[in-house]
Amino acid sequence: MRSARVVVDPDFALGAVDRRLFGSFVEHMGRCVYTGIFEPGHPEADETGLRRDVLDLVRELGPTIVRYPGGNFVSSYRWEDGVGPVAERPTRLDLAWRSIEPNTFGLHEFMTWASLADVEPMLAVNLGTRGVAEAADLVEYCNLPGGTELADRRVKNGAADPFGVKVWCVGNEMDGPWQVGQKTADDYGKLAAQAAKAMRLVDPSIELVACGSSNHEIASFGAWEATVLEHTYEYVDYISMHAYYEETEDVRDFLAAGVDLDRFIEDVIAAADYVKAKQRHRRSLRIAFDEWNVWYQSAYHQLPPRGWEHAPALIEDDYNVVDAVVVGSFLNSILNHADRVAIACQAQLVNIIAPIRTEPGGAAWRQTIFDPLRHVARLARGVALRLPVTAPDMISPKYGSVPAVSGAATWDEETGQLSLFLVNRDPENDIAAEVDLRALTPSGVGEQLVLNGEDVRATNSAAEPDRVRARPVRTARLDGAHLTVPLPAVSWTAVTVACDTASRH
Ligand code: AHR
Repeated sequence: MRSARVVVDPDFALGAVDRRLFGSFVEHMGRCVYTGIFEPGHPEADETGLRRDVLDLVRELGPTIVRYPGGNFVSSYRWEDGVGPVAERPTRLDLAWRSIEPNTFGLHEFMTWASLADVEPMLAVNLGTRGVAEAADLVEYCNLPGGTELADRRVKNGAADPFGVKVWCVGNEMDGPWQVGQKTADDYGKLAAQAAKAMRLVDPSIELVACGSSNHEIASFGAWEATVLEHTYEYVDYISMHAYYEETEDVRDFLAAGVDLDRFIEDVIAAADYVKAKQRHRRSLRIAFDEWNVWYQSAYHQLPPRGWEHAPALIEDDYNVVDAVVVGSFLNSILNHADRVAIACQAQLVNIIAPIRTEPGGAAWRQTIFDPLRHVARLARGVALRLPVTAPDMISPKYGSVPAVSGAATWDEETGQLSLFLVNRDPENDIAAEVDLRALTPSGVGEQLVLNGEDVRATNSAAEPDRVRARPVRTARLDGAHLTVPLPAVSWTAVTVACDTASRH
């Protein structure tokens, strides 16, 4: 069997694993909200219409922070439409997704859901059709205890305590030609700076995300970040990045996409650091990678125009084994940049390119990408380690020669748990990971999980909800400070090793 060499050393700490790296995203889009997390009348719905079966799956998945309400949706959204008595809320056109928005689910419903799901809310403000005043108003409505018209309105609408929302996106993908209210970098940068300043004047404890480019390929990438940050660096804490990948002609290109994602993250860091140097800042900006996933986007763009519908079935991609393995490699890229990526939101949580799928009035189930997301969120603890991996090459027509194995590791000094996340991208060959644990005193292998399949095109469905799952296996062998982990072709693996911490002090 081919082999890859992996070196684990807790002295190679990259940075703490921020729990916000395991976030997700709920947008008013398609069936993410309506018939996704919220479906009054569903047999599993609670008295407020929240689906309990979906909440159970969300709690099992374990996202830590959830972005809301968009996405492109936010750029023509009036947040006031979604508060107050439901019977009085207006029905509107959602221009982003050509949908009818009844506003029966809004801010308070989301906050109730977030508390039941045990997630931190992360809100986006509309800088497409609206501006500084509405952004500051929303912070006031959410975070002030009372004594002003807006804060008192929240109390009157049923929330006596402030929502205390910490993380705020100052707009969404404002560079995109598809965005309602698209702006030039200069116009967006000036507006975002003023909106951020006003929002922080309302609540100085909030953390703000400026919009980076909507993808790496867009022609303005790099220049957009530089211009926007020249206006906003002093007012914001994070710059956003968004990335979606899909399989096109050659599966090896898709399996190698994590290498491209690494380059994208490093390019965003370079652009932010350019402004840091130019303006003589001491503080490095961190990244909010607040939309990422596999998305079969080219199929979506070929669809014929639709009429106005409420909660149409949009981008409900069915994920297979390859998609789950690629998602595993993206999680590795995120952990391997834990020194600069502070927030990451897999997009989206339910139905829309999602780990959780539902049928209206029917079942909810886990897609193939659910288990890598769940187990990395559960097992990645302590600090992320710089993890040298020397692996055989895999040739991708698009990206050239890339290592066939992607790896990430976390080390929890408190508990002595080492967690390793390994992906074999090779479509044909099994590879043995030979892991040198030289600086540790391992006492045994803990959990070992693998996700692969003889049929890499297998998917889960309402009829076969557990066809593709991460399975517990016991194939890893520990010999002193040497661990061997067999990695089947096209697979994602998580393995934990219990180590003696006393010998490290
Ligand atoms: O997640 C789907 C869409 O992708 C979001 O609304 C938008 O921000 C991005 O283009």
